[in-house]
Amino acid sequence: LDNGLALTPPMGWLAWQRFRCLTDCITYPDECISENLFKAMADRMSSDGYLEAGYEYVIIDDCWASKERDNDSRLQPDPARFPGGIKNLSDYIHSKGLKFGIYADYGTHTCAGYPGSIDYLKIDAQTFAEWGVDYLKLDGCYADVETMPEGYGEMGQYLNETGRPIVYSCSQPAYQEPKGINPNYTKLAETCNLWRNWDDIDDAWSNVTNILGWFSSNQDRIASFSGPGHWNDPDMVGISANAECGHIRRLLDSVDRITGTNSSTMRVSLDEDYYIHDSLLLGNFGLSYEQSKAQMAIWAILAAPLLMSVDLRTIDPIFRDILQNKDVIAINQDPMGVQGRLVLTKSTIDIWTKPITPHIEGSDSYAIGVLSNRVDGYPYRLNFTLLELNLTHIYGYTIKDVYDPSSEPRDVDIDQLIFVRVKPSGVVLLTATPNSAINVSLII
Ligand code: GLA
Repeated sequence: LDNGLALTPPMGWLAWQRFRCLTDCITYPDECISENLFKAMADRMSSDGYLEAGYEYVIIDDCWASKERDNDSRLQPDPARFPGGIKNLSDYIHSKGLKFGIYADYGTHTCAGYPGSIDYLKIDAQTFAEWGVDYLKLDGCYADVETMPEGYGEMGQYLNETGRPIVYSCSQPAYQEPKGINPNYTKLAETCNLWRNWDDIDDAWSNVTNILGWFSSNQDRIASFSGPGHWNDPDMVGISANAECGHIRRLLDSVDRITGTNSSTMRVSLDEDYYIHDSLLLGNFGLSYEQSKAQMAIWAILAAPLLMSVDLRTIDPIFRDILQNKDVIAINQDPMGVQGRLVLTKSTIDIWTKPITPHIEGSDSYAIGVLSNRVDGYPYRLNFTLLELNLTHIYGYTIKDVYDPSSEPRDVDIDQLIFVRVKPSGVVLLTATPNSAINVSLII
C-alpha cells in the first residue's frame, strides 16, 4: 500500500500469542488484556532497548472491546479493563515515543466473539483515527471469504479518508489460502501494508517449521509481492521466550543454595552451551534457545514483520538479546526489502538466502540462513559452495557469522567449500559481501 508507511517490515509488540484472550483481571491482574498490560509493555519497550532496536508499534489484539457497541454504534473498550478509554492509552503509548495499534475483524464477530466491523467499517475507521491508532490488524473470522477482496479494499479506503497514516494489516489471504483460493496478491499489495498468509503461530517448533514449509513451498508464487510498503506476514516472533532460561537459572539458584557456591561462572558457560539447555528442557514448553535464534534468523531472511509476543517484564536477557540483535535486525530491515527464499536442501538442512545491500560492482550482498531440520544430536558439519546458492560474483565474497560477531570475516571464492556446524533445529546465519575487483587486484 502506497501510503508512505512500512517501507521496511513493521516492528513492534503484539499481544496475541502470549496473552491470548485472558480477560480475568481478578485472578490474573498482571496478565489480563487491559490498559495496564499495554502500558507495562510500552514502558519496557522504551526503557529496555526495544524501541532503540527498532520495535515501535504496541498492538492490541482481540478481546479488548466491550461486547456491545455504544449508542452511536461505535466500538468501545471493556470498561473494567480499559477504564481510561482507548484514546488515553494511545496518548500514553505515544508519550513513550511509540506507536499504537489495534485489532478489529472484517466479519460479524472477531475470532474470539467480540463485535465485528462488517456493518460499521466507516464508523470504525473514523473511531480508530480519532483514537490515534497508527496500525490496524483487520482479522477475517465470521466473514464471507468471497466478499473479502472488495471489503478489505473498502476499509482501506475509509482508513485513507481519515487522513491519519495507519499501517493496514489484512488477514484476507489467511482465510483464502486454506480454502484453496489463490489471493490476488497484486491487488493486496496495493490495498494493504502487510497480510497474514497462513496459520497462526503457536508455541511449538513444529508450528514454526509448518509455517516455513508453507512459505518455502509457495515462495515462487508469493515472494515477489513482498517489498517496501507491502509484506507477506508469517506471524509473530519471540514466542515463548520466557520459560526455559528462567528454568535453568532457577535450577542453578537451587544448586547454589544447596552447595553454598556461586555458579555464575558456570551460568555463563551454561548459557553458551545449548546442549545442556536443551536436555534440561525436556517436558518444558515452547522453543529452545537455539530454536528462538533460528526463528529470528529465518524471519529476518523472509523480510517478515517482527512482531514480538512475549512478556517483556519477565523475558530472560539472553532472549532479549536475540530479539535486539542489531545485525539480524539489519538483515530484516534491509532497504531493498526482498523476501528471501529457500534455495538448497542438503542432508536435511535448509539453506535460505536473501539479497541485501550493499551492492558492489553489480552484485548484491546476501544473508544466508542455514537451518537444520536434523534431530541426530550433534552439530552437523555441512559443506556447500556459494555457487550452489547462486552467488556468482567472480571475485568472491567476504563471509561473516552474524550470531558470532567475534569470528573473523573470511574471504571465499564462489566454488570454494564452506563448512558450517549446525545444531539440531538450530541455525547458522551468515552474510556474504561481494569482494571488490580493486581490492582483489591490490592483494595480487
Ligand atoms: C485469529 C488470528 C490471530 C488472533 C486471533 C484473535 O486466530 O489469526 O492472530 O488475532 O484470531 O482471536
